[in-house]
Amino acid sequence: MSVTTPSPNTRQAMGELAPHVDGPAIVDAVATGARVTVDWADGTRGHFPLMWLRDHCACSACRHPLTRERLFVPLNDVVEAPAVTVNDGVLQLVWNDGHESRFDPVWLFQRRLENGSDTPADPLPARRPWATGFQPTRIAHRDFLQTEGERAWLEALLRDGLVLLDDGPIADEEVSRLAGRIGPLRATNFGARFDVRSKPNPNNAAYTAIGLALHTDLPNWRQPPDIQLLYCLQNEAEGGESTFADGFAVAEALRESDPDAFRLLAETPIDFRFQDEEHDIAIRAPIIQLDADGRPLEIRFNNWIRDTLRLPLERIDAWYAAYRRFWQLLHDPRHQLEFALRPGEMVAFDNRRVLHGRQAFDPSTGKRHLQGTYLDLDLLESRLRVLSR
Ligand code: OGA
Ligand code: ZN
Ligand code: ZN
Repeated sequence: MSVTTPSPNTRQAMGELAPHVDGPAIVDAVATGARVTVDWADGTRGHFPLMWLRDHCACSACRHPLTRERLFVPLNDVVEAPAVTVNDGVLQLVWNDGHESRFDPVWLFQRRLENGSDTPADPLPARRPWATGFQPTRIAHRDFLQTEGERAWLEALLRDGLVLLDDGPIADEEVSRLAGRIGPLRATNFGARFDVRSKPNPNNAAYTAIGLALHTDLPNWRQPPDIQLLYCLQNEAEGGESTFADGFAVAEALRESDPDAFRLLAETPIDFRFQDEEHDIAIRAPIIQLDADGRPLEIRFNNWIRDTLRLPLERIDAWYAAYRRFWQLLHDPRHQLEFALRPGEMVAFDNRRVLHGRQAFDPSTGKRHLQGTYLDLDLLESRLRVLSR
């Protein structure tokens, strides 16, 4: 059954009459009790509660004619069935107060309601856990500047939580220009755009030459940055290879091998805290946060900004054992991806799913310089929907 891609906002607005794209016409519709039953030309039948239909009316009184945003507020129950007609494949309803609603057949077809399940929302790629030997998608810089390349880059990032861009210029701020195509840079206490290199008087382990074990950035924030971009400008020093692990896949591996440890990390909030001369940013949250269905939603893992462990005495030893177990699994070669970034390459990853790190480097052997920034996932998804129109 063919389902059309989403149309631009002006047409996607619920119920508004879209041109007849790809999809069956309505051949019959009747009001039965508190619903309207609709039959399409391909034999599909759908049922729509009266209240739902009234709520989704797209006339200019129910939706703002310019912004297409909803004006109708569903405060009164609709109990009386409307007069139903099908005109040229379009469903027309006249409510008992005289209000008229028209529904495009394809729009309605794509939003058929089912008992016991939500209708699927969006054509965004589903998350795919890394399998052993996972190799990230690579998109050339010049392709990223074209719609298809950028789309492939976005899809890989949403699906795998990590994607590479290569063959880019060695240009200051290129990371900001690339990120700026997608949305405003997400600023943090390290600035909207940060330089990763060993610095005198560093306020962050990343700004030294030491190795960084796998971590997520800024788990001490209520809302850590969603997407991190690291653009390599120089990498001549010995060492400094980048490492990554799919935190969701490893959390599932932990659940499998040690369910008690998994549960403990998911159910026990701990403290994260960053302090320097100007800031003191702290939050209490679990290492593995689960969604309403019990699936990993977010990983917060950063050993150097883990604060004092304040737990009931009897849980301390078990918590350390669980943490150690997760640490070992994350750093297990089966779950790790390692490569050296070359100048002109940029890695982008989902900071709330994928952990990153680096091997120590020796600054006396050459320079290493990355420029980084963060983006909000909402704007990545938005960009993909817009490019998919
Ligand atoms: C960071 C970081 C990794 C690197 O800046 O948050 O983890 O490769 N950098 O230097
Ligand atoms: Zn209306
Ligand atoms: Zn980091």
